[in-house]
Amino acid sequence: MLRPSCGAEFIFFLEEKTMKEQLEQIRAAAKSALNHAGIEQEIEDLRVKYLGKKGELTAILKQMGSLSAEERPAMGQLVNDAKQELEALIATRKKDLKAAATELKLKAERIDITLPAKMRKQGHLHPLTGVTNDMIDIFRSMGFDVVDGPEVETDHYNFECLNVPADHPARDMQDTFYLAENLLLRTQTSAAQIRTMETRKPPIRVVCPGRVFRADEVDATHSPVFHQMEGLVVDKGITMCDLKGVLEQFAHEIYGPETKVKFRPSFFPFTEPSVEVDVTCSECGGSGCRICKGSGWIEILGAGMVHPRVLESCGIDPTVYSGFAFGIGLDRLTTTRHKISDIRSLFENDQRFLEQF
Ligand code: DAH
Repeated sequence: MLRPSCGAEFIFFLEEKTMKEQLEQIRAAAKSALNHAGIEQEIEDLRVKYLGKKGELTAILKQMGSLSAEERPAMGQLVNDAKQELEALIATRKKDLKAAATELKLKAERIDITLPAKMRKQGHLHPLTGVTNDMIDIFRSMGFDVVDGPEVETDHYNFECLNVPADHPARDMQDTFYLAENLLLRTQTSAAQIRTMETRKPPIRVVCPGRVFRADEVDATHSPVFHQMEGLVVDKGITMCDLKGVLEQFAHEIYGPETKVKFRPSFFPFTEPSVEVDVTCSECGGSGCRICKGSGWIEILGAGMVHPRVLESCGIDPTVYSGFAFGIGLDRLTTTRHKISDIRSLFENDQRFLEQF
């Protein structure tokens, strides 16, 4: 019980004690709460509750004004100690909880590296592309460049300059898709010969693979879209021997060295003389089978010595230069190589079919 006669000192003593007790209570409560907090946010909430601007410890500090000047430093020291202690505890608890959360996450995301991997399905080149690439490799090894030509051509490049003027009967053999009077879908890669001779000077050695178009009915051996590879060599002193040598070498590399090659006289308006080239059937070796329709031979290309008129139309003097050209049907080559009986399979994009190659 307070007796007024005891004076102010005693009252201060009591207040100081109360403050000390209060501080102890706060400190103990805060420590216990911090130690029991289970997540980081809880710790943060406790920090605000005790150390924040309106926090309980801050409230005690505000009461310091009621202490005497002598008592203030000791009490101040105590509050500061409590503050530092709680701050340190908050930091460690935060760190511990963070580590625990990381640990938990790592455990949950643990990967069993002994499980078999999910196989990713890997595609491969279309058989036609594979054959085209092989042919490009063969001709590159013989010093040929690869050139490109447009699929939409003019009458001039597709026919006129190849010595096939309007009304020439040879046009009937290539049923053409016309886009306008002088514009068409190229019927042969031979158009690339002219474009090459117009832009390059001899010696010329190029191949041009690509799509060609003819208004043919679709059946097992015909498609309105098919593929050719054109070849052209122009230099001084090029003869039929060069043509035979290059094409024999090509046939042996594609079909194997045991393959026989036959040159038959033929006609193309842009070559003179012209030949068609057959190889022994890779399926039966020449004895006759379903693939070669019993003949033992398969026709693979047309070729010949470039017609002097064609050279002339491209500004190349035929008395100085000569050359040979050839046009290979890529679809036929692909179907015979992979023993495919129907050309349509190449264009239907049926995965079950394509997966086999
Ligand atoms: N362009 C001809 C065709 O589509 C094939 C051909 C024959 C190309 C003889 C040539 C060649 O370069 O010399 O039927």
